[in-house]
Amino acid sequence: MANVQESDFGKTKDGKAVKLFTLTNEHGLVAKVMTFGATLVEMRVPDKNGKMGDVVCGFDKLVDYEPKSDPYFGAVVGRVGNRIAKGEFTLDGTTYHLAVNNGPNTLHGGNVGFDKHVWDAKIVQSHDGPSVAFHRVSPDMEEGFPGNLDVTVTYTLTNDNAVRLHYKATTDKDTILNLTNHSYWNLSAFETPTILDEVLMLNADYYTPVDATLIPTGEILPVKGTVMDFTKPTPIGERIEQVPGGPPTGYDHNYVLNGPDGKMKLCARAYDPKSGRQMEVRTTQPGVQFYSGNFLDGTNTGKNGVKYVNHGAFCLETQHYPDSIHQPKFPSSELKPGQTFDETTTYKFSTR
Ligand code: GAL
Repeated sequence: MANVQESDFGKTKDGKAVKLFTLTNEHGLVAKVMTFGATLVEMRVPDKNGKMGDVVCGFDKLVDYEPKSDPYFGAVVGRVGNRIAKGEFTLDGTTYHLAVNNGPNTLHGGNVGFDKHVWDAKIVQSHDGPSVAFHRVSPDMEEGFPGNLDVTVTYTLTNDNAVRLHYKATTDKDTILNLTNHSYWNLSAFETPTILDEVLMLNADYYTPVDATLIPTGEILPVKGTVMDFTKPTPIGERIEQVPGGPPTGYDHNYVLNGPDGKMKLCARAYDPKSGRQMEVRTTQPGVQFYSGNFLDGTNTGKNGVKYVNHGAFCLETQHYPDSIHQPKFPSSELKPGQTFDETTTYKFSTR
């Protein structure tokens, strides 16, 4: 029977208790989510023979999630996920200064992003499956961003075998935000150490090229005829060495999703031929950052002693485009008082 169990996941270094919620759906799929970073810690789904496997990167212990060097495994990132050029932006005539924590830029909300906070949580009733809502108020000027931002992220493990994230936020001052989930997927459940043979389709005819510091140049270019093209299912490793930029080599780009912003649409389909596991991503968001685990280098040892090697997992971070505040042609990432940020992403599992 579908249910939610609550347990302790330890205490942060500054003594805050962290809860872990284990969501089990009608078919026995399991998602574990914790209050530190509203993080997806574990995702157990069957392969084509019915064998369960955990398909996300994560750690056994809370202490490993705390350092700044943690690669954002499974976390909700914010207030502004992805990069803001030069750590500053101007809104309504005021210039705001942010932490410069990634080369010359701001990455994933600054020094202490949403992934490093303990969120409130409560089990909620949903007809679709077991569900937990995480909530926090990011105070005015936290990490330099204006406005008290009230955020709720609800995880539901649906009975049709999807993990659904529903993001809602309101503000009391004009601000910017870009919330996403930073799960790293390996559909073989790490039985194959890299994702280079996993086959990916992205529902995107265009992408946003970047400069050497991974800030978009502002162009929106067609993927057709380039190594960026995943409109047809293609093994991730097939052309990865030819991706411009780096080191490190690989994909770390925002794709412009085909279809209307704000409406659920196909984002991506990933398939592992060996295990037969497939994951289909759908979202209301306008873009997705496809990141092929380029900075993973084997130094992180995760759950069950697995070493996360280079390209050991990939991320599909559904989002607004990076650095939108500096790019008038990109969909706006501004939120004003009276408006509600309301976005949904689902990751649905099956086998073939
Ligand atoms: C991704 C980002 C990468 C890298 C990674 C964390 O979202 O696009 O460049 O910073 O997060 O290691």
